[in-house]
Amino acid sequence: MNDKKGMRKGLTQYGDAEFSLYLRKVFIKAMGYSDDALERPVIGIANTFSDFNSCHANVPQIVKAVKRGIMLAGGLPMEFPTISLHEAFSNPTSMYLRNLMSMDTEEMLRALPMDACVLIGGCDKTVPAQLMAAAAADVPAISVVTGPMLSGTHIGERVGACTDCRRLWGEFRGGRIDRDEISEITNRLAPTAGTCGVMGTASTMACITESLGMMLPGGATIPTVNADRLRHAEAAGAQSLKLAENGLLPSTIMTPAAFENALRVLLAIGGSTNGIVHLAAVAGRLGIEIDMEAFDRMGVDTPVLVDIKPTGRFYMDDLHKAGGIRAILRELKPLLNLDCLTVGGQTLGEQIDGYTETFEQDVIRPLNNPIHSGGGIAFLKGNLAGDGAIIKQSACSTDLLVHTGRAVVFDSLADMSERIDDPDLDVTKDDVLILRNAGPKGAPGMPEAGYLPIPKKIAAQGIKDMVRMSDCRMSGTAFGTIILHSTPEAAVGGPLAFVETGDTIHLDVPNRSLTMDVSEEELERRRANWSPPDTVKAEFGYRKLYMEHATQADQGVDFDFMIRPYTRKTPLNA
Ligand code: FES
Repeated sequence: MNDKKGMRKGLTQYGDAEFSLYLRKVFIKAMGYSDDALERPVIGIANTFSDFNSCHANVPQIVKAVKRGIMLAGGLPMEFPTISLHEAFSNPTSMYLRNLMSMDTEEMLRALPMDACVLIGGCDKTVPAQLMAAAAADVPAISVVTGPMLSGTHIGERVGACTDCRRLWGEFRGGRIDRDEISEITNRLAPTAGTCGVMGTASTMACITESLGMMLPGGATIPTVNADRLRHAEAAGAQSLKLAENGLLPSTIMTPAAFENALRVLLAIGGSTNGIVHLAAVAGRLGIEIDMEAFDRMGVDTPVLVDIKPTGRFYMDDLHKAGGIRAILRELKPLLNLDCLTVGGQTLGEQIDGYTETFEQDVIRPLNNPIHSGGGIAFLKGNLAGDGAIIKQSACSTDLLVHTGRAVVFDSLADMSERIDDPDLDVTKDDVLILRNAGPKGAPGMPEAGYLPIPKKIAAQGIKDMVRMSDCRMSGTAFGTIILHSTPEAAVGGPLAFVETGDTIHLDVPNRSLTMDVSEEELERRRANWSPPDTVKAEFGYRKLYMEHATQADQGVDFDFMIRPYTRKTPLNA
């Protein structure tokens, strides 16, 4: 066996390499391993099971299937735990902890003796954290996701987390659903374990991972409970042995051309706006910068092809039955970089050509008959957008794409929750609701609070959408005319810090413009009176590390010291 492979890899430093290996053997043999087992290639399995993470409830079965695949292919599987993050169980928000998970995973990939690794992720932040780790550690790695949950029903109506969670909560707030019914609905929205069953952030990141080439074909959309999910895991386990042999590295797979493919897919699936933040973070670990204006231009010839919630009709189990990412990539083939390598050992083009199933379905549209022709995510500029803000135009009300309204400003999440339903709040349906100090440092953690609730008195009039804006993120399962990721955020002196209630706001999505009617002199006066909020101060621990080093949305909110100097850009062809 090669000196730098398997159990001989990355020896603990005692100043005597032979002693280090001898001691390692002593301890691993305490678990009953034979010399034969210890001579095999070692494949790590990042286990992200947690009782606090229902999206990862099937990780133990996946680990079992991955181990089977590794052993059938002649390797030694070694499972190790990392941090696991669930959206609804992370305070203040899972995004605050994503970089911590990525650093945990990255350092385990470096520290433990493994020739390749199978990364098991699923919920929104776990897959990005693992890709960031794989990119930085650059150890051969293959991704397996836990898979989307099945959709459920409530009084004969099909429902699924979490688009319908938000819609039904809106009905409750508007008084059209009573407290008993909303309580019963908690039994219906997530009928199985697994990730949210719509094109939210978890599904978006799974689709992006497959498109990047870091997952075996077909793996993004197989529902959690399908037997195919375990067969896919077994195949990934077996494939990891080939990665250990051929040494194909994440940095060879995740090139600017592969990121361009992933950005195309993000647009074509009408994916979550969070996808762009996470892609920027993964790419940043490889010294690749996402060019947001080029990404916006890419939207012009990249239509939305998938009719899926939160904006369309179907759920992830329907998308899987319709062919999943393989069918989407086949439609997008003329727009993709086909030479990109994938963990399966084929190029993306070969992978697409290998998928030959064709049948009638109405979830994935052909390129010449899309759902929406103008691209999913638009990049806005103007004196209220600073270095840029984004809007998911496919999720907007068409009559609000060009809108002028009066700003109604909330200074923080706490201020918003205190005042939004106040019957005396001076607000109309034509106003523009603005939430600030909810960005990467202001909140902190750039929470998914961008789906500002419609004030109760406006919701009671049957109004379901208003123009809303913030420096935070929005759940991929949400929808509406919502401007996000205002960069730089208010807490570090971005333009949202200086808007006041009563200012006139102009939104013009077709012209990519977001402005406020406030003169430069007046803005200068407001800047002179501004000071950062107390939330950005931290003296100890992880919070201090986060506050001192978290970047803005355009750099993926990664820590500045984790981002490699940018030497390349993506997309290339826009
Ligand atoms: Fe985990 Fe939605 S909460 S994917």
